[in-house]
Amino acid sequence: MALEKFIINGGKRLKGTVQISGAKNSALPILAASLLAEGPCTFSNVPDLADIRAMTDLLGDLGAEVFREGHEDREDKADGNGNGDGNADGRIRICVTDESDSHAKYDRVRKMRASISVLGPLLAKRGRARVSMPGGCAIGSRPVNLHLRGLSAMGAKIELDSGDIVATAKRLRGAEIFLGGPFGSTVLGTANVMSAATLAKGTTLIESAACEPEVVDLAEFLNAMGAKITGAGSPRIIIEGVDQLTGTAHEVIPDRIEAGTFMMAAAITNGDVHLANCRLDHLMAVIDKLRQVGVIVEKSNGGATVSSARRLEPADATTQPFPGFPTDLQAQLMSLLCLSDGNSAITEKVFPDRFMHVAELLRMGADIRKEGPTTIVTGVKHLVGAPVMASDLRASAALVLAGLVAKGTTTISRVYHIDRGYERIESKLASLGADIQRVADD
Ligand code: EPZ
Repeated sequence: MALEKFIINGGKRLKGTVQISGAKNSALPILAASLLAEGPCTFSNVPDLADIRAMTDLLGDLGAEVFREGHEDREDKADGNGNGDGNADGRIRICVTDESDSHAKYDRVRKMRASISVLGPLLAKRGRARVSMPGGCAIGSRPVNLHLRGLSAMGAKIELDSGDIVATAKRLRGAEIFLGGPFGSTVLGTANVMSAATLAKGTTLIESAACEPEVVDLAEFLNAMGAKITGAGSPRIIIEGVDQLTGTAHEVIPDRIEAGTFMMAAAITNGDVHLANCRLDHLMAVIDKLRQVGVIVEKSNGGATVSSARRLEPADATTQPFPGFPTDLQAQLMSLLCLSDGNSAITEKVFPDRFMHVAELLRMGADIRKEGPTTIVTGVKHLVGAPVMASDLRASAALVLAGLVAKGTTTISRVYHIDRGYERIESKLASLGADIQRVADD
């Protein structure tokens, strides 16, 4: 893989309209759930991202034919970065033709943790699943104990063998399952258990289910396939098992994290940006925080307009499961508050070690002090451009935001982290007036 970097010359106010892509974190478990269907599923508004390719490659290993509509060939035609050519209209068709191989191998899972989303669908549909146990990652330790607890409560036999989770069950049975953990519920755990329960015998009740919009989107897809799920979006989900699910069509919701990132890009550059294809009801906590610091956010034309014309106020923020402030926007908010007029405390309650961006922001002149899961951010007048390193997806987005406003040039290396979750971020920012280029990193 050829390494690339972004070169950003800061100081341009962003202005114009940006189209928000489909939600990566919705699309991933939804694509995985297509393993449950008898017959083809068609998806629209699927973002063209490295992580989506990783999922479709995995589904290919598991016996699915995957086509990106608008392309003559199978989907495995993208550039070497794992990003597609940007011409796809966001449509993917998936049809399972061979159920003989149910092994999600280490090489796939280590590249993308969300590969764990195939566990529930494989087990429910094929009676067996072998999925490499995901390791930790740059944002901290990420156990899957709750996923496994939920599936065993439904009667699955679960063993660990050579680093793989091996799950078997003739047919899962309905159960009452509590999915709360020390840091709240689990999004992909809820997705796995809910997907598996659709084909179980009897009724499953998930208590302390994740309430994220991505869980609701998955439930809507499963119901369109013939599942009987009620309560998604609340902490109690009830799933009445059915014998079979059929293929269907589904449109993925807009990406609330990409939208929140562009809102903060508008705010940090004192810009004026319209976000099209954006669900404000998925962003209430974010909009509330932005308004609190002095950013103007208005509903407009099926999206939002975000503008700011002055130095922002400081604010305290704590990340929480939905509908609280999302952990996936914590790093970006930190970049914004680095330039506010005072002290802000940011506490991370979902992934307490998710602070890889702090050291890089310090290289750009930020004033941040970390105390356990809390950082105290003291606003500075300016950030200054510097060579920095992308470490994980959202930390990297925070560095892009900082680069947009820093004095001078910021070079961000290892942008493949950003490509995992943002569709052509540099083109979208450039179309709003940012001075940003992708170049080879030699
Ligand atoms: C999803 O990860 C997202 N990923 C993450 O987005 C997001 O940060 C996270 O939810 C929280 O919103 C996808 O949807 C693909 P969790 P997930 O299980 O489901 C603990 C991004 O940047 N936990 O909800 O894996 C866990 O350690 C990514 O796009 C257990 O204790 O996260 C964490 O503290 C990064 N046991 C908390 O729960 C378990 O079995 C929430 O994690 C599972 C999780």
